[in-house]
Amino acid sequence: MPQQLSNEQLSQLAREFGTPLYVYHAEKIKEQYEKLATAFSGSNVVFFYACKALTNVSILKYIKSTGANIDCSSINEAKLALHAGFLPQQVLYTSNGIGFDEIEEAVNLRVNINIDSLSNLEKFGKKYGHSYPVGIRLRPNIMAGGNLKISTGHDKSKFGIPIDQLDKILEVVNQNTIFITDLHIHTGSDIKDADVFVKGIEVLFDIIPYFHELKSVDLGGGFNVPYKKGDEEIDIDIVAQKVKEAFDNHPQAKNLQIWFEPGKFIVSECGYFITQVNVMKETAATTFVSVNSGFNHLIRPMFYDSYHRIENISNPDGEEKKYSIVGNICETDTFAWERKLNEVREGDYLVFYNAGAYGFEMSSNFNSRLKPAEVMLKEGKGHIIRRRDNWDDLLKNQVEIKF
Ligand code: LLP
Repeated sequence: MPQQLSNEQLSQLAREFGTPLYVYHAEKIKEQYEKLATAFSGSNVVFFYACKALTNVSILKYIKSTGANIDCSSINEAKLALHAGFLPQQVLYTSNGIGFDEIEEAVNLRVNINIDSLSNLEKFGKKYGHSYPVGIRLRPNIMAGGNLKISTGHDKSKFGIPIDQLDKILEVVNQNTIFITDLHIHTGSDIKDADVFVKGIEVLFDIIPYFHELKSVDLGGGFNVPYKKGDEEIDIDIVAQKVKEAFDNHPQAKNLQIWFEPGKFIVSECGYFITQVNVMKETAATTFVSVNSGFNHLIRPMFYDSYHRIENISNPDGEEKKYSIVGNICETDTFAWERKLNEVREGDYLVFYNAGAYGFEMSSNFNSRLKPAEVMLKEGKGHIIRRRDNWDDLLKNQVEIKF
């Protein structure tokens, strides 16, 4: 089982590749995937890695090598998946709010599709009738997930077709003889409680009898990971046991394949974000530690109030003091307020843990700052998998007009 990367390994990578730097530990990705595969080994389950968490193509190729399939949330993600070598049948495109042209493109790519609006379902039926198998993304009206911004299954969420519109769904499906092979729900991210999946299954079981050509039921993603010391990862063995029990006991569902779309669970813990301290600033309120990064590189703390463990790997035995870790973006940009760290000096490396999922992926060039490099550590060796942005990248899409 791979251990967390050591301070020496991380410092060495920072020196070799510079900072700010995202590092992904390949063997940890494999460990997480295998945890899932082992827990569900007695069930007919397929895992589609939700690649919105991290789409670097080398990561996608590595994840393919573990045996996972892939879930995409845009047509470009689907194209990236194919580019990385996934076969069309291993690619799932779970759409939300998209134009019908993207669905047509997905059909041309021959990937699996989940449709999330009555409007697109109807257009799909008119164009393809029974000729192309398709899934329906439903909104189960279940509240779940770590915070409201990442809850997607509740009764005010934009995602999926509300389950209370079943009559209308059936009308559209039957009128156009649509070939429905999958029913999908995704209730949220950071789910700690196995019973959320059981609730979802109960909702789906009520409607399975209305669909006679189903091959799979898709329970989405959302397995939580421990961000804080003392947090617990969702007990995957319990989820597996409860899901298996529910399906085995259901006469129609027991022959269906069960799909999951984990993102965070697969890539969060493999990721380390290494920054370097630019300046220290003493104030009456707190001691600020400004690092050479900001919410342009890791937005989760500012956007979701998320907690990331931060450590000073350059001075692990230094006396513990309280600091407020902030970025260099020209607006409030706080990673952590009054957090205990080993004594911090300018030039020290501060590492943010659990940064693999929705870290680099949600980064931007705000303040015209450059995006960091990404490195994959595999079998002890660091491989650059995305070079750091450079000056040309800032200008490359701009069209300059003369005045
Ligand atoms: N399937 C669907 C349809 C989804 O919308 C999502 C995430 C997933 C699977 C994967 O969920 P996961 O296993 O990664 O929790 N940026 C936020 C998370 C947003 C998740 C959006 N959808 C964060 O950093 O916490």
